[in-house]
Amino acid sequence: MSAIVVMGTQWGDEGKGKIVDYLAEQADVVARYQGGNNAGHTVVVAGKEFKLHLLPSGILYKGKTCVVGNGVVIDPAVMIKEIKGMQEKGFETVGLKISNRAHVIMPYHRLLDEVEEEYRGDHKIGTTKRGIGPCYMDKNSRCGIRMVDLMDAEEFAEKLKRNLDAKNHLFKAVYGVEGFDYETVKNEYLGYAEELRSYVVDTSATLNQALKQGKKVLFEGAQATMLDLDHGTYPYVTSSNPIAGGVGVGAGIGPTKINNVVGVVKAYTTRVGEGPFPTELFDEMGDHIREAGHEYGTTTGRPRRCGWLDACVVRYAVDLSGIDYMAITRLDILDAVKTLKICVAYKYKGEIINEFPASLKTLAAVEPVYEEFTGWETDTTGVRLYEDLPLNARLYLERLSEVAGTKLGIVSVGPGRDQTIILADMFK
Ligand code: GDP
Ligand code: IMO
Ligand code: MG
Repeated sequence: MSAIVVMGTQWGDEGKGKIVDYLAEQADVVARYQGGNNAGHTVVVAGKEFKLHLLPSGILYKGKTCVVGNGVVIDPAVMIKEIKGMQEKGFETVGLKISNRAHVIMPYHRLLDEVEEEYRGDHKIGTTKRGIGPCYMDKNSRCGIRMVDLMDAEEFAEKLKRNLDAKNHLFKAVYGVEGFDYETVKNEYLGYAEELRSYVVDTSATLNQALKQGKKVLFEGAQATMLDLDHGTYPYVTSSNPIAGGVGVGAGIGPTKINNVVGVVKAYTTRVGEGPFPTELFDEMGDHIREAGHEYGTTTGRPRRCGWLDACVVRYAVDLSGIDYMAITRLDILDAVKTLKICVAYKYKGEIINEFPASLKTLAAVEPVYEEFTGWETDTTGVRLYEDLPLNARLYLERLSEVAGTKLGIVSVGPGRDQTIILADMFK
């Protein structure tokens, strides 16, 4: 039995898709456990780029079981589009399993996401407006519609009626916008139900059976630690738990089944959306990283905010998820930088602080303590062995490992599958 979790350590877009795709070759099952189509995971295979929002990144291999767990929120139209898109490109989707307990994103969730953001004004979160937050809200307030309900026309019709009555009232009375027509939504969604029916099962049972049979399971995180609902920069977070602890709840397996946790760390830091970001760069260096790294959102196309590598964030992620190995990505983007910085501590009111601030006011006011590193100014994209990396690159990575308190497992020097340096066997 071997199960590993691959999750983000920063604010998302670390390159989880690339790392999952790389490790998925060895896995029998790849499973998503939270989030929805707010995620945008890019995988490059043989020079071709694939952008996945809902399907696990294992879908690019033949013969893998791909699970969309109960903790994921599913926009059925997006799911169908993605399945068809993959089929048209010649990939098989027979191994896809969608949890019957996963919650369904409805049109009113997407509209609520939009009007709530508008209503927040200066305090907007900068969500992806995919209806993620409102769908999880309904799940928690126990009025959500699950895949199992969508598969039962009578149950669905009744649940939709109750939800729509309440939501349409809210749209009109509070937000002053038009709601939705019951029959139209009902027919649209019952159509989706037929297209998805063959994939819908009890995925917790699928996963537990796979584990009992000694199969290798890879859990693919979406979003990241700093966007975690409980541990991230609340309220500038997403509405699920991307940390490794989210796997038990969002996939329906016991924590004792997980062997290794791999934290994906971008070699610098980026963030999309609002909220504090201590190492953010507002100068030409930030612009250089954004342009060299094409740092624009996969899902929304928004420019990503860029900054120095923050080892305090990574150390916090290591503790929260018990990260065994780090997978460092995008080292090559720093190839041309003369002098680099890593934030190794935060100072608040002149004193070093040891705990990651819960208060956003504090986090916004911390002063990063930087260590400077001489850049390697060498093209690393062709390197395949750790010892062949320039010494200055290794010093940079090893200092991160020291401050973060965990081992280096993978170093990625390009988006391609082969542009990967392996330091340890993650499935052991
Ligand atoms: P995710 O959401 O964590 O899966 O990350 P995204 O896919 O949103 O963004 C990461 C981007 O970096 C994608 O375009 C990847 O193809 C790309 N990528 C991943 N690893 C590397 C790397 O080591 N070097 C370079 N240059 N690009 C990478
Ligand atoms: P991947 O999996 C980066 C951010 C949004 C916003 C906040 C809340 O590709 O790393 P939401 O729509 O989830 O309610 O938005 O979270 N966000 C992401 N940022 N990568 C992602 O996913 C993200 N998913 C959500 O920008 O700040
Ligand atoms: Mg992404």
